[in-house]
Amino acid sequence: MTVNSAGLFAERVTDVQHYTDRLFRFRITRPQALRFRSGEFVMLGLPQDGKPLLRAYSIASPAWDESLEFFSIKVPGGPLTEKLQNIKPGDEIWLKPKTTGTLVNDALLPGQRLFMLSTGTGIAPFVSIIRDPESYEKFQTLYLTHTCRTVDELKYGFDSVAAAKDDPLVGEEATQRLFHFASTTREPSAHQGRITSLIQSGEFFRTLNIEELNPEHDRIMMCGSMHMIQDVKAMLEPKGFVEGSNSNPGSFVVERAFVG
Ligand code: A2P
Repeated sequence: MTVNSAGLFAERVTDVQHYTDRLFRFRITRPQALRFRSGEFVMLGLPQDGKPLLRAYSIASPAWDESLEFFSIKVPGGPLTEKLQNIKPGDEIWLKPKTTGTLVNDALLPGQRLFMLSTGTGIAPFVSIIRDPESYEKFQTLYLTHTCRTVDELKYGFDSVAAAKDDPLVGEEATQRLFHFASTTREPSAHQGRITSLIQSGEFFRTLNIEELNPEHDRIMMCGSMHMIQDVKAMLEPKGFVEGSNSNPGSFVVERAFVG
């Protein structure tokens, strides 16, 4: 394993795309020795005065990909993201050799439908999962929900679902069995409201013309706002859903979206 004197991989930025003044996506070269499971996160960042300044970032590319993709918020005054938002192709990014996380197939019991509920940058681990053939082997249908304040914040999700449907490896499966549901909370759009309200009112299920959640065959992954996670958990547990972990798989798993 080739790591620098800080014990970190030093990789290069290959591509940066700014979606809004709050959100951007970037890609870096992948260290050959880095192994991860789709849905996991890694600590990454920049050198500051020769020392690493790192934050947790979900890897948005699938485990088989040659490059690593990340989707980041720009936190005003945030020590890392204030700098990270200015990166350009060729710049150096540091990352830890170890990845981890609970939004992985291993933490879920076998099931038929996989629901991935996300807000904001919480969509990133699911962008990895929807491009992994294993997801389509393990589940019959996949539902990705993404809720943001405004329409322009949803674009990364639309681009990523389009890329999955166009992907030579999973494109056919994704076109037939992946469903994307995007909603906004502070601006009009095709679907309006928090995912919690849309689930509770039944509107989500009616729109997609599908059955309500059932712990016998449904599995749920959530990533995003801490409050969204708490509210969905409080909705799921009385229905009989049980939280899973890597060592003890269950019917749902959670991870908050990390803020740099
Ligand atoms: P809202 O606009 O009603 O707060 P943020 O940009 O603050 O990270 O939020 C991302 C999205 O998550 C917003 O659309 C926000 O809706 C939504 N959200 C925040 N809290 C909750 C919650 N408790 N349950 C469901 N959605 C939530």
